Amino acid sequence: MSLSQTIDFDLDLINRYNTAGPRYTSYPTAVQFHEGFTAERYAEIARETNASGRPLSLYFHIPFCDTVCFYCACNKVVTKDRTRARPYLDRLYREMELQGELFDRSRPVTQLHWGGGTPTFISHDEMTELMQRTAEHFRLLDDDTGEYSIEIDPREVDDHTLSLLRKLGFNRISLGVQDFDERVQQAVNRVQSESLVLGVLDEARRLGFRSTSVDLIYGLPHQDRKTFGHTVDKIIQVDPARISVFNYAHLPDRFKPQRRINEADLPSPSEKLAILQQTIQQLTEAGYVYIGMDHFAKPDDELAVAQRDHTLYRNFQGYSTHSNCDLVGLGSTSVGMVGHSYSQNRHDLESYFERIDAGRLAVFRGVELDADDLLRRDVITRLICHFELAFADVEKAHGIRFTDYFAQELKALEGMQADGLLQMTGESITVLPAGRLLIRNICMTFDRYLREAKEQRFSRVI
Ligand SMILES: C[S@@+](CC[C@H](N)C(=O)[O-])C[C@H]1O[C@@H](n2cnc3c(N)ncnc32)[C@H](O)[C@@H]1O
Ligand code: SF4
Repeated sequence: MSLSQTIDFDLDLINRYNTAGPRYTSYPTAVQFHEGFTAERYAEIARETNASGRPLSLYFHIPFCDTVCFYCACNKVVTKDRTRARPYLDRLYREMELQGELFDRSRPVTQLHWGGGTPTFISHDEMTELMQRTAEHFRLLDDDTGEYSIEIDPREVDDHTLSLLRKLGFNRISLGVQDFDERVQQAVNRVQSESLVLGVLDEARRLGFRSTSVDLIYGLPHQDRKTFGHTVDKIIQVDPARISVFNYAHLPDRFKPQRRINEADLPSPSEKLAILQQTIQQLTEAGYVYIGMDHFAKPDDELAVAQRDHTLYRNFQGYSTHSNCDLVGLGSTSVGMVGHSYSQNRHDLESYFERIDAGRLAVFRGVELDADDLLRRDVITRLICHFELAFADVEKAHGIRFTDYFAQELKALEGMQADGLLQMTGESITVLPAGRLLIRNICMTFDRYLREAKEQRFSRVI
């Protein structure tokens, strides 16, 4: 294992730095998106990107779920009525026509993702149709070289689903497992048997999916080291290429379904940290490396290799090996990253339908990045992906002198250096194993909007 991909779990440091912070799937973060950024501006920017001929990444949001998981913080519509997919897909096709007109057909789609909600809520015929319609408007790759992925709820898979998805061009799946313990499953209303999950993973391997990823969540009701340890052990035995271990944050005011979770059943903060520590130990002993931000991978997985080669990239779809794409978001709530902008579609189905039915794009807010945003995004992305930053690389890309431009930030990092989170020289920053779990805190130092918000709060206080 490469030393640069190891982590240290330092309880004292984690407790000290444990503040809420952005996950930096975008910089600036969604807080900076505003409605002054219009669909018309989005269309202009999209057309301008054709000059670059860059590949495209398509994200499709399928918002429906058959039953609600009480912990869920995703944007979803819970319904047993499968006919609700039809009017949504019709709008998605209309939106694809509108979006497809903006981008040159010669631009290859090197990345494609169906996310949710539950993408497999739709019928097999609808899946086939959605892919066919996509191919009418965008240049899909048919040689399996793209990164075509889909989120799978094991309860929504029958004997033919995975083989159909493979035939349609998908080569990666991520599987929502969360926890195998029955008591936990019942408390969060997500009951799925072990044999079901293991069967899906086996089938994916047999069908030649290139990479399989499993989602687990720690911090759920009734979890403790012993029970969650069993879940992790069982997952390790089936040997997926990637494992995500998400932290459950209980925010019932923000996410209504979470009100149905009994707070008294949640593990204490110290038990939660102990679960995390144990999980990291289990995964690293089993040969997984820490990629960053909740993600682990086998050392020979593309993501781990890309991290070592410094070609790893991170955007709204998470970690990826395809950095040079414009990302087109399709469907309600989807986020796009096109040219130097972020954009977001309307959230709820009604207002999404209303826009599309009026023959307009559904973008309702976004942000254009200025030179400072681009520079800071580059710094944050490099730190998150590589845990290392050579000032000369940033200087070359942005025409600045790093130590002058970021004098204030470098000063602020001194405390973290003293705490052993990172090592600075006059030419670089290296995140040390004890700083890897706290990477978002390190990145927050470079976030201009957070600093400005803090300064404003401070000036109000005095
Ligand atoms: C859109 S869901 C995956 C697809 C499918 N709906 C499923 O649940 O299997 C994406 C993942 O987000 C994670 N997730 C959802 N809500 C969460 C929360 N409140 N805290 C942590 N992780 C969460 C779960 O691990 C889930 O598998
Ligand atoms: S975790 Fe997945 S299946 Fe459960 S409610 Fe959320 S999106 Fe739907």
